[in-house]
Amino acid sequence: MCGIVGALTGRPAAPLMLDALRRLEYRGYDSAGMATVVGDALHRRRAAGKLAELEAVLAADPLPGTSGIGHTRWATHGPPTAENAHPHVAGRVAVVHNGIIENHAELKAELKAEGVVFTSDTDTEVVAHLLDRAIRAGQTPQAAMAALMPRLTGAFAFVVLVAGEEDLLIAARRASPLAIGVGDGEAFVGSDAVALAPLTRRIVYLEDGDWAVVRRSGVQVFRDAGVPVQRREQISTVSAAMAGKGNYRHFMEKEIHEQPEAIAHTLHAVLDSGTGAATIPAPLDAATIPKITIVAAGTSYYAGLTGRYWLESLAGIATEVELASEFRDRDAVLPEGGVTIAVSQSGESLDTLMALRRAKALGQKTLAIVNVPESTIAREADGVLLTRAGPEFGVASTKATTAQLTAFCSLAVALGRKHGRLSEERAAELRRALAGVPGRVGEVLQREAQYQRVARELAHSRDVLYLGRGLSYPIALEGALKLKEITYIHAEGYAAGEMKHGPIALIDEKMPVVVLAPSDGWFEKTASNVAEVRARGGRVILLTDAAGAERLAEKDDHVMILPDVEPVVAPILYAVPVQLLAYYAAVEKGTDADQPRNLAKSVTVE
Ligand code: F6R
Repeated sequence: MCGIVGALTGRPAAPLMLDALRRLEYRGYDSAGMATVVGDALHRRRAAGKLAELEAVLAADPLPGTSGIGHTRWATHGPPTAENAHPHVAGRVAVVHNGIIENHAELKAELKAEGVVFTSDTDTEVVAHLLDRAIRAGQTPQAAMAALMPRLTGAFAFVVLVAGEEDLLIAARRASPLAIGVGDGEAFVGSDAVALAPLTRRIVYLEDGDWAVVRRSGVQVFRDAGVPVQRREQISTVSAAMAGKGNYRHFMEKEIHEQPEAIAHTLHAVLDSGTGAATIPAPLDAATIPKITIVAAGTSYYAGLTGRYWLESLAGIATEVELASEFRDRDAVLPEGGVTIAVSQSGESLDTLMALRRAKALGQKTLAIVNVPESTIAREADGVLLTRAGPEFGVASTKATTAQLTAFCSLAVALGRKHGRLSEERAAELRRALAGVPGRVGEVLQREAQYQRVARELAHSRDVLYLGRGLSYPIALEGALKLKEITYIHAEGYAAGEMKHGPIALIDEKMPVVVLAPSDGWFEKTASNVAEVRARGGRVILLTDAAGAERLAEKDDHVMILPDVEPVVAPILYAVPVQLLAYYAAVEKGTDADQPRNLAKSVTVE
C-alpha cells in the first residue's frame, strides 16, 4: 500500500532511491515520484503509471542532490494522476505517505479557511501544509512535528523533507510499517528492510506511534508530542538478492518454484530436531483451550479455513475462522482462555492487525502466524509462529500460503498429540507425510507443462468454477481468488456439495469447472458432484491422484494427476496446481501477474 523511501547520503540520491523504490513496487504501482533538497530549494519529479514512467522523467530531467524522499503509490484518495502522485509539497515541506490520515477533511477545512490552496485530492497534502505553516511561523521542523503528531488520526507512515535542511528527514509511523537504515555517514528510511538491503543491514524499526528525526550522524526517536524513546538497532537478515527475479519472468513464477524450500524451511523451523514434533508456541501450550479463533484476510484467510479442518479433526479443538475486516468491528463472543491466531504473510495487513487488537481487547491470548519476523503483527501478538517462506513480492501469495498451511498442519499434529487425540504412531505417520511434501511439490512443478496447456484454454473463459469438499474446499476458494486477481476472469470457489443449492444454474458447455478431488474421505461425494456438472455440459478440469483419475476421469475431461500423498496433507500439495493454472492463464492473457490492476501487496488501509 504505497512504498516510501528516504535517503541522506553523500551520493546522488535519486538513482539510489529509484533502485529502492523498485524493491517496493510490490506495495503499489499506479504512480510514483521523488523530491530532493539542495540548499534552500526543493526539487520534485512525478509521473502517473508504473515506476518506469518516473524513470523516464528522471532520465530526461535528472534530480540533483544527495538528500531526498521517494514514493510508489497505491491510490486511496484521488485517482492515480501525476498531480496526486507523491511527494506533496507545500512551501518548504515535501511529504511521502503510506496509509490514511482519517481526519484529513477536518484539517483541510481548517487550512482552507486560512486561504490555503490545495493542489491534489489526497489526504497527504494536509501534512505538508500543516508542517509548512508551523515552520513559517518560526518553529523548528522537529517542534512542528511534535505539535502535529497528536493532531493526526488514522493508520499511516510518512517521511518529511524540508527546504534548507539537507541533513534531515522526519519519519513517522502509526500502524503502517517503517524502517530506518543506519549507514556509514548515511541514513535511509524505507517501508521495509528489503528496500534498504543493498544500502545497509543496520535497521531501527519504528514502533507503532513513534516518530524520528533522522540525520546522517544518527537517529532520535520520539513518541506523541516529543517524548524521547530508545529503539534498538537490529541487523536485518534479508539480502538484496531476495528482491530479484533471477531467471524467472515474474516474482510469482519464481515464488511458485521456491515452494519446496519454503515448505521444507518452515517444517525445519517448527519441528523440534530431537523429537521431530512441532514445538507448540505460547499461548497454544495451555493445558486446555476452549476455542481457537483464526483471523486473517484473503489467501491467509483460506489458509486459516484449512487450518480449522486440521485443528478440529487432528487436535479436537473448537475452531472458528473469521474475516479480519468483519471480526474487528463485530461483538464476537469469545470464551475465557480462548486463543486468537492472526495469520498474515506480511504481518502488516491493517484489518488483521486491528482484529488482533480486538481479540486482545476481548481478553483473548494471541498467536501470530506470520512470514515477516519484524512485522507489527509479530511484535504485538503474545506468541509467534514464523513461516519461513522468505520475502514474497508477487502480489498473489504463493509460497507464503503453502508455508502457512505447513505451519497449521504441523501445529495441529503437535496439539493432537498433546491433547491425546492422536496416537504417537499416527502423529509420526503424519509427520513423515509432512516431511515428504516438499518432494511431492517438486514433482508437481516438474509437470508444470500440463498446467500451462490447460491454462491456455482457461485464459479464454469468461467464468470459471472451482469445486472442492472438506479439506479441498478452501483450496477451491484459493484457486478462484488466484485466477480472478491476476487474470481478471470471473471465478467462484464453491464447496462441491453446495453447488446444487444455486451455482449449478451457471453451468453450461462454456463453463470450465476445476474440481479438486484427491482420494480422501470426501472423494465419493465429490465424484457425484462431478457427474452433476457433466450432466449439464460443464467442462471438467480434474485435479486428482492416479487412483482418483482411474475412478473418475472421462475422456472429455482435462485430467491432471498429482502425486499420491496422505490425504491430510493434500491441501498443501493441491494449492500448487491452482497457482500454476492462474499464473499460466495470466501469461496467456498477457496480464501482469506481479502487478495486477487495482491491487497491492500488504494492504495497510482499512
Ligand atoms: C491473494 C493475496 C491476498 C493476501 C491478503 C492478506 O493472493 O495475496 O489476498 O493474502 O491481502 O495479506 P497478508 O497475508 O499479508 O495479511
